[in-house]
Amino acid sequence: MMNKYLVTGAAGFIGSAIATKLLEKGHAVWTIDNLTTGFKKNLPAGIHFIKGDCQSPASIAKLKKVCFDAILHIAGQSSGEVSFDDPVYDLRTNTESTLRLIDYGLKTGCPRFIYASSMSVYGKVPADAIAETFACQPLSFYGVGKLASEHYLRIYQSQGLRPTSLRYFNVYGPHQNMANLRQGMVSIYLAQFITNKEVIVKGAKDRFRDFVYIDDVVDFTTSIIHDERSYGAIYNFGAGRKTTVGELLEAIARLSGLKRKIIIAPGTPGDQKGIYADMSLVQKTFGFRYKYDLEKGLTQMIHWAKKASW
Ligand SMILES: NC(=O)c1ccc[n+]([C@@H]2O[C@H](COP(=O)([O-])OP(=O)(O)OC[C@H]3O[C@@H](n4cnc5c(N)ncnc54)[C@H](O)[C@@H]3O)[C@@H](O)[C@H]2O)c1
Repeated sequence: MMNKYLVTGAAGFIGSAIATKLLEKGHAVWTIDNLTTGFKKNLPAGIHFIKGDCQSPASIAKLKKVCFDAILHIAGQSSGEVSFDDPVYDLRTNTESTLRLIDYGLKTGCPRFIYASSMSVYGKVPADAIAETFACQPLSFYGVGKLASEHYLRIYQSQGLRPTSLRYFNVYGPHQNMANLRQGMVSIYLAQFITNKEVIVKGAKDRFRDFVYIDDVVDFTTSIIHDERSYGAIYNFGAGRKTTVGELLEAIARLSGLKRKIIIAPGTPGDQKGIYADMSLVQKTFGFRYKYDLEKGLTQMIHWAKKASW
């Protein structure tokens, strides 16, 4: 059966991959994207594209009251570092947009809503794997906006909304924006490995993250769209593995064959020292099978990055 989906942010890294997968399955997909960090060339063929802001009623009105089978709100300003430049913009783009789209969904008869949240909601965490029950205290305005969206979604359940928030960890893979050196640890370092003699790392090498490959993110996100077990839930989505920045740099050097001098610079505001996901809830509920580990994912991404123009 062909369904209708709204995937916001389909000119960006994650949104375009999700929209592509849904189109490949034969569904009809709409998107709203303001092209602030996304590119027209990322829009998959056959998508209904509205250029505009998800927080703008005028842009949303261009959807012409189409009743979607689900709304996947993926668009957003996606950098903790950038959220300090203009906190009001961050709130509008990451939180007001959620409210406007919830309103559209409820008024048009689409209660199903999937939200691209972030591990940044957690803030300062202990060194162990972090479960969804951990008390959130975000360190960046970006994290505050994502957490606020999650709460709006939770409260709107009393009006019939069926939300799921996915706290993505560090997503990486082909088509990530390699020219943006303020978002995406893997793309930031890999871009420098390929173009520079030196790699500048903002913050210590013993920081650690949980890197998860784009195809696994797309598979999980699309697999739960109509899964009732996920209604009202919040899930981590990382690989459930801890990798230090030092280990990541070593893996990029080894797999790319590029030897570079590493320069350690001061960290960025609101950066987390270390965080990785406890994936027990997702595993217990769905038994999700990953297709990529870091070695396999990085190999794919390096292969793409060396050939692509960016
Ligand atoms: N990449 C990651 O590792 C990661 C981790 C956690 C959460 N997320 C979240 O996932 C989502 C997608 O991230 P991404 O890495 O694909 O980023 P991206 O910058 O590549 O994509 C975001 C897209 O949304 C568009 N956009 C931004 N604000 C908009 C608005 N107000 N209205 C319409 N379009 C808008 C941009 O033009 C871009 O095409 C974001 O919400 C981000 O916060 C990403």
